[in-house]
Amino acid sequence: MSYSKDTQQLFDNWATSGRAEGMERGHWTRALQALQNMPISQGERLLDLGCGNGWATRWLLERSGLGGSAIGIDVADSMLQRARSQSVELSNIEFVNAAFDELPWPDHSFDHAFSMEAIYYAPDIAQALRSIARVLRPGGTFTMCIDFFEENPYSASWPTRLSIEMKRLSESGWVKAFEDAGLSVEDHFRCLDDRPPEASATPEQQQETLDFRQNIGSLAVRGRAQ
Ligand SMILES: C[S@@+](CC[C@H](N)C(=O)[O-])C[C@H]1O[C@@H](n2cnc3c(N)ncnc32)[C@H](O)[C@@H]1O
Repeated sequence: MSYSKDTQQLFDNWATSGRAEGMERGHWTRALQALQNMPISQGERLLDLGCGNGWATRWLLERSGLGGSAIGIDVADSMLQRARSQSVELSNIEFVNAAFDELPWPDHSFDHAFSMEAIYYAPDIAQALRSIARVLRPGGTFTMCIDFFEENPYSASWPTRLSIEMKRLSESGWVKAFEDAGLSVEDHFRCLDDRPPEASATPEQQQETLDFRQNIGSLAVRGRAQ
């Protein structure tokens, strides 16, 4: 299984210090636009990659309706514990310790997959995307939503600030990476966010957040497996 131990430790620490719920609040509005763009039908089996506290996995479960199911994967055990403890009243949902590039399921196991702010932590993006394409049924889709990409200049400093490895591609670079992995891109778009910045942030941070949310937005890419 290939992932960075530094990344796993960072997110284990974030989970124990309450930052998983901070990410949920921060990502929710933009992620929802990408989630609602997914072509999910009742009863389908769905995968959430880099699930954190599992908020998107629970949304996918609800969206899959009667007979549907959802699995969230993550490499940080503390994230998985939070995801499980927040899902105890639900059935047909599961959280599994697994890395993007070595998904422990046979070919064609899922109808659709989603990931919010996670895939760029994969040490090898091409291998991660091929692994995701492999577990999708022919015609199944993968929707990725990210804030860390070249057209968002405010994200350039994140690897240095977090002291971990992150792969920063452009929008066209992501489209090509999907296509190279066998995921035919049928949509890519930005998810904007009209919420005001957090009042506790500095004026400079508030200005960055406003510019990001109103003018840049999260990048969503949806590719279809062949
Ligand atoms: C920025 S968090 C986003 C969590 C969640 N999707 C959200 O939006 O709140 C990224 C998550 O991806 C997980 N992750 C990082 N590298 C991974 C890998 N190679 N395989 C699986 N999960 C990974 C981290 O442990 C972390 O929980």
